[in-house]
Amino acid sequence: MSKVMKALNRLLEWVDARFPLTKLWNEHLAKYYAPKNFNFWYFFGSLALFVLVIQIITGIWLTMDYKPSAEHAFATVEYIMRDVEWGWWMRYVHSTGSSAFFIVVYLHMFRALLYGSYKQPRELLWLTGMFIYLALMAEAFFGYLLPWGQMSYWAAQVITSLFGAIPAVGDDLELWIRGDFVVSDVTLNRYFSFHVIAVPLVLLGLVFVHIIALHEVGSNNPDGIEIKKNKDANGIPLDGIPFHPYYTVKDIYGITIFLILFSIVVFYYPDMNGFFLEHANFVPADPLNTPEHIVPAWYFTPYYAILRAIPDKLGGLIAMGFAVMFFFFLPWLDRSPVKSIRYRGWNYRIALIVFVISFLVLGYLGMQVTTPVKTILARVFTIIYFMFFLLMPLYTSTDNDKPVPDRVRYP
Ligand code: HEM
Repeated sequence: MSKVMKALNRLLEWVDARFPLTKLWNEHLAKYYAPKNFNFWYFFGSLALFVLVIQIITGIWLTMDYKPSAEHAFATVEYIMRDVEWGWWMRYVHSTGSSAFFIVVYLHMFRALLYGSYKQPRELLWLTGMFIYLALMAEAFFGYLLPWGQMSYWAAQVITSLFGAIPAVGDDLELWIRGDFVVSDVTLNRYFSFHVIAVPLVLLGLVFVHIIALHEVGSNNPDGIEIKKNKDANGIPLDGIPFHPYYTVKDIYGITIFLILFSIVVFYYPDMNGFFLEHANFVPADPLNTPEHIVPAWYFTPYYAILRAIPDKLGGLIAMGFAVMFFFFLPWLDRSPVKSIRYRGWNYRIALIVFVISFLVLGYLGMQVTTPVKTILARVFTIIYFMFFLLMPLYTSTDNDKPVPDRVRYP
């Protein structure tokens, strides 16, 4: 062993005597056994972690030049785009990152629906994920106001005014959330503090808890078979492989592909034709001039369509709240003894396909100007959306599930 290696080993021994570095490394990476049959859908957890880091780093740099005041916010964003060296890159990475975050997280959640990853013993893991999802929505909502463009301003005005529909406390609540009678400098200041410190702290804490919960129960897999049930004489799962190096290398491959796609957007299509950066947001906020067509960012549009589908404002708000909240109850609504879609019957398969279609159609309708036909369509798809959850105990308990093998299939 070279002198350098000996010195490094001694340093590691010194650290290990004071902090469980090698122990943590082994428990969570080198001797953490994950199922050997992970597929494409298992890239998105590590990608979500990667995007979170990108957002935090670019966010720190943007904050160095951004000023959260109604007078300066729009101008400082323009200053970042034109005068700050690489400022345009930081901003586009951050704005593309927010959309990428939702794409990755939606695919990550869809994987859970495919393989029943929310089912016993992963209920708490799923619930921590749902709290992450709520925090992510809050983070995106607060961040959307910061560029102080027309859409930032009016989307915040519309969303905050929804709280006014709550009986008795609505008006006070609306005023309290805005800090003013309309969205103003005060609102911008508090949203800034939520966006840069409060919610990111909550997010980081929740992601930590999410990973701890994951490592307690172990990952599910595309077969939905618990690998801990089949262990060798040393207690190592027969269908498991050490996370490091096998999945660290696989995840680096995933991150590389992701970065290629991400860079194409950042360098060539940063506004994604109004999907990632809306055209109206290139115009400074004007409290006296309401844009004709106010829509939230694309990742909120399914819920926005549900809100608009209900004629009553309070009813819409409640329906929108339920549309998100139902996900929390999936572990208890799903009565099938089988986890993975590979061994489920056609009831669940069809329900999932129809649900995904309804989510996408509602997302599309939420971006459009309402017409009588589109409103009817939004109502039909809102009903279909809710039926997925409400009828789940019925169609999952009567499904024609197939027998599940003892050991995972590979690949
Ligand atoms: C910042 C956002 C998130 C991060 C960084 C994150 C991170 C991770 C990681 C690294 C894994 C293990 C790798 C994998 O299975 O892909 C994982 C698994 C999981 N996550 Fe997340 N996650 C996030 C959001 C969510 C959300 C919003 C949900 C659901 C509402 C969720 C539910 C799950 C479930 C159920 C698993 C276990 C999946 C399985 O083993 O099949 N996560 N997460």
